[in-house]
Amino acid sequence: MPETVLVTGGAGFIGSHTCVELLAHGYEVVVVDNHVNSAPHALDRIAKTAGRPLAASYQVDVRDRQALSRVFAAHRVDAVIHFAAHKAVGESVALPVEYYDTNVAGTCALLAVMHEHGVHRLVFSSSCSVYGDADSVPLTEHSPVAPTNPYAHTKLMCERVLEDVCAHLAEMKVLALRYFNPVGAHPSGLLGEDPQGVPNNLMPYVAQVAVGRRERLSVFGDDYATADGTGVRDYIHVMDVAEGHRVAVEHLDDRAGFQVFNLGTGTGTSVLQLVAAFGEASGRPIPYQVVDRRPGDVAALVADAGAVAAAWNWTTTRDLTAMCRDAWRFQQLNPHGYAR
Ligand SMILES: NC(=O)c1ccc[n+]([C@@H]2O[C@H](COP(=O)([O-])OP(=O)(O)OC[C@H]3O[C@@H](n4cnc5c(N)ncnc54)[C@H](O)[C@@H]3O)[C@@H](O)[C@H]2O)c1
Repeated sequence: MPETVLVTGGAGFIGSHTCVELLAHGYEVVVVDNHVNSAPHALDRIAKTAGRPLAASYQVDVRDRQALSRVFAAHRVDAVIHFAAHKAVGESVALPVEYYDTNVAGTCALLAVMHEHGVHRLVFSSSCSVYGDADSVPLTEHSPVAPTNPYAHTKLMCERVLEDVCAHLAEMKVLALRYFNPVGAHPSGLLGEDPQGVPNNLMPYVAQVAVGRRERLSVFGDDYATADGTGVRDYIHVMDVAEGHRVAVEHLDDRAGFQVFNLGTGTGTSVLQLVAAFGEASGRPIPYQVVDRRPGDVAALVADAGAVAAAWNWTTTRDLTAMCRDAWRFQQLNPHGYAR
C-alpha cells in the first residue's frame, strides 16, 4: 500500500510543488486548504503536472477541528506536511491576532486532530526568519534565534509547541524545516508562485516587472553591511524545497522526537545580483529604484546546509540561473497567475 500524506496548504506555492513531487514518487496525497491565499485551480494544475490525481482535496480551515477530524476519518493518513499558514512579514505586524490564530492555533488544532486519529508523523514549515538579525552567517540550526516580527514569532512558537508535544508523546516524530527563500517554479511552467495582490517577495515582484505588470522594482535599502549594500538572502529553488519535503517524509522514522533542519543552499545572493540574473534569464532589463529600508528586514540570511546533507545524504541541485529561468517561464505562460 502506498503511503498517504495529508498536505495542509497544498494549493499554495510550496505545497503545490510538494504535492507534485509526492505524486511523482507514488504517494497518495490528500490536500486540506481553505484557499485564503491560493486558487482552487492550483489543484487542477497539480494533477496535470504530476500526470495523476490527488487522492482528495478539501476546502477546510485547519482551525476547524471538526471538519479536519472528518478528513482524517476518511483517509488512513500516514504522515502530515503542514504548510497552511499566513506568511507575510509586514502584514503580520498589522494583523498579529490573525497570524497567531492561523499559524499557532492552527498548528495546535492540527496536532490535536492528528493525535485523536493516531497520526504522529509530521513535517512542519518553519522559516529562517526565526534567526532574526543574524550577527554572522552562515546560520546553523544552533545559531541563536531572535524573531523580529510577529510572523517569525509564530513560527518559533510552533516549533516550541512541537518540541513540547514530542517531549510528552514518545511516538511523535516531527521534522521542522526552516526554509530560507523559496523561489522559482516547476520547469513545465504549469505551477509557480501566484501571489494575490502586490507580491511581498522579491522574485515574483521582479517577474511582474519583467512581464510589464509593474513599472519598476523598489530596492529596500542599499546601505546594509553587505558587498553591494543590498540585502543578501539564500534563495532556494522551490523544486529543491519540494524534494526536501519528500526526502524528509522518507526520514521521519530515523528517530522519534523533534528535530529542526535548515533548508537552504548555503549561497548568498544580493538583491542586485538577483535583479541582474533575472534580467539575463528574461532578456529584459529590470528597472529599479532604491528606497528606504523596510522595517523588520535584516542584512543577510544564509544557511549552513550541512545538517540535512549529513542526516539525509541530500543537497539542493538547482542554481540561481535555474530559479530565474523557471520563474520567468511561469510568469510568461501565466502573466496573470492562475485564472481566478
Ligand atoms: N514562501 C516563503 O518564502 C516561505 C519561507 C519560509 C517559510 N514559509 C512557510 O511555508 C509555508 C508555505 O508557504 P507558501 O509560500 O507556499 O505560502 P502560500 O500562501 O502560497 O501557501 C499557504 C497555503 O495555506 C493555505 N492556508 C492559509 N491559512 C489556512 C488555514 N487556516 N486553513 C487551511 N489552509 C490555509 C493558503 O490558502 C495557501 O494555499 C508557510 O507555512 C510559510 O510560512 C514560506
